Amino acid sequence: MKKLRHLSNKNKQIDREFYETIRDILHHPAVQQMRIYMQHSGTNCYEHCLHVAYFNYRICRRLHLDARSAARAAMVHDLFLYDWRTHKFQTGDATHAFTHPRTAYNNAKRYFDFSEKEEEIITKHMWPVTIVPPKHPETYVIVFTDKFCGFCEFLDYYFGPLREEYRKINKL
Ligand SMILES: [Fe+2]
Ligand SMILES: [Fe+2]
Repeated sequence: MKKLRHLSNKNKQIDREFYETIRDILHHPAVQQMRIYMQHSGTNCYEHCLHVAYFNYRICRRLHLDARSAARAAMVHDLFLYDWRTHKFQTGDATHAFTHPRTAYNNAKRYFDFSEKEEEIITKHMWPVTIVPPKHPETYVIVFTDKFCGFCEFLDYYFGPLREEYRKINKL
């Protein structure tokens, strides 16, 4: 029991550290604007970036990588600020998957300073779509967490209501 309490306190402390690491980005109006654009299924771009930033932070911290850069870059990795589902029809541009990492970086660098490593984390998060392999291990982490979070968001959208039903029926 003591060990469990210790673990839970440690997790709370890591979560607080995570929040402090991205606080300025999190509350910025441009970043808040991501709430109006949907990303995967029922998740908007802001929520998706927050999920990816959190997993990036936890994984990189555990692996003794640069968790700060991983979290800050992830929080803006999809700051492209348009509805990608209608973008193709409105603009005739069907290259969203290839171009949105650079668009997100160009938008984000207007408001925040990024290191060369953070730039790579943002601009190559879609690798191998973006062909040239990343140099930094933190970029390989976001390549994984971005896909992992997208998959979980998809599952949550389709199976979340079923889970709620199951809980109700079984009075959980
Ligand atoms: Fe993306
Ligand atoms: Fe993403």
